[in-house]
Amino acid sequence: MIAAPFGNVVCSFTVVAPFGNVKMMVPEELRRKLQHYRQEHVLAWWDRLEDTERRQLMDQLLSIDLERLAQLYAERDRIFSVPDPSQIKPPPVVPADAPDNAAMRMAGEEALRRGEVAALVVAGGQGSRLDFEHPKGMYPIGPISRKSLFQIHAEKVLALGRRYGKQLPFLIMTSPATDAETRSFFAERAYFGLPKEEVFFFCQGTMPALDLATGKLLLEAPGRLFLSPDGHGGVLTALRKSGLLEQLRRRGIRHLFYFQVDNPLVKVADPVFLGRHLSQRSEASSKIVPKQGPKDRLGNLVVVEGRCTIIEYSDLPDSLANERDANGQLRLWAGNPAIHIFDLDFLARVTEGAGLLPFHIARKKVPYLDDKGQVVRPQKENALKFERFIFDVLPLAERWLVMETSRREEFAPLKNAEGEDSPQTVQGALTNLAADWLTRAGIEAPRTANGEPAVALEISPLFALDADEFAARVDRSLRITTAMYFE
Ligand code: UD1
Repeated sequence: MIAAPFGNVVCSFTVVAPFGNVKMMVPEELRRKLQHYRQEHVLAWWDRLEDTERRQLMDQLLSIDLERLAQLYAERDRIFSVPDPSQIKPPPVVPADAPDNAAMRMAGEEALRRGEVAALVVAGGQGSRLDFEHPKGMYPIGPISRKSLFQIHAEKVLALGRRYGKQLPFLIMTSPATDAETRSFFAERAYFGLPKEEVFFFCQGTMPALDLATGKLLLEAPGRLFLSPDGHGGVLTALRKSGLLEQLRRRGIRHLFYFQVDNPLVKVADPVFLGRHLSQRSEASSKIVPKQGPKDRLGNLVVVEGRCTIIEYSDLPDSLANERDANGQLRLWAGNPAIHIFDLDFLARVTEGAGLLPFHIARKKVPYLDDKGQVVRPQKENALKFERFIFDVLPLAERWLVMETSRREEFAPLKNAEGEDSPQTVQGALTNLAADWLTRAGIEAPRTANGEPAVALEISPLFALDADEFAARVDRSLRITTAMYFE
């Protein structure tokens, strides 16, 4: 296993077999192990492979845990256990407009000035629902500027550094599918103004897929297993294995602001949230947005036995999702926008063990090589895929807190090519936010009959990070008649 150096993290944790020029053989121990776990079919093409292919297959085989895979296969029918409904409670939530926000902001700003905060974006997903054949972060989302998601996030990090006089490290988790393109995208654009040495790419791990009917490993080519990213929960293992976690701690970073690449509205390292996290000595803090309906496709943040827990919308029984209180409000109303702050000591503690987060098992259609060497594209689910979810770490926190935010201010995820959570809705949300900041500054944009802005509007993070900064900088005599970009 390669412990990658800080700032130069290798993608994939490879083991290079020391074969030199000798014709490459399968080590006897590995062959026996494969036989023991009935996986020796993966060597069916060995004799016909080139040495590079053999080396690649060997790397893959040596890096997987066959015992663990056998266990996961045995558990494939285990229904994800949702706790007894009587144990599932709504969380205590700090309202978005809490009276002590000003004090919290000051505390958060102090931590930023002391350089105790890093920002981390998970960007390993492939965005297949978006029909975009690049890492999702490269999607040009700015309604006027066409800035990519990555650029918007990077500029927020840069603007925070300028404002507080201490540049935050920006950590970007990629996957083997997104790593090379993401690195080049940043490098070709001069890291969007960030100092190169403050941008850290690290690559998440992968998991093989298993045939649903037999539990056999699936091959994608004669010399290659089918592997897919191990879920955003893989961030914890990857942080540890890459050495980044330790290096951040050595450098005095104490809090990690975590967010998803798909949400350009996120208030990166929001000082109010940070201050609250600090003042409660929280180990894991989460923002929530009110759900729009019982079947909203968001994780549900709940409390189970005193612990903060997220139950995916797909796992929440209808009866619970539909429950309403005496005022007719949803009882479980707290939706998960995937915005957290983690205490670094907490992450160090929970990543000490090997097992760490559980795997969630999903049935998927996975193309594979059959025993005649033909690629089969299945019509129905044929495989099991395994992913870890970051939010499974929340119940491990002894001290935690939950703070409300609004969708309009902070949550507009880009998930689909059309309809809900699509480029159109996300660009609309960016325009709405700009219009709201203009209104706060006493400037009105033209509106349609239903009150929405009639022209596209956009504010660069380098112009202003929040409504107050915008109001302080904008020319208040401005009249808006057409699309406008504040840069
Ligand atoms: C996710 C959450 C859901 C939350 C919603 C908010 C899960 C299971 N559910 O849903 O609770 O309400 O976001 O938008 O996560 N990623 C990786 N590596 C991976 C897989 C994903 O880095 O192996 C990253 C993606 O790049 C993306 C983020 O994780 O930034 C979310 O992944 P996505 O598949 O879009 O999550 P959702 O199912 O939409």
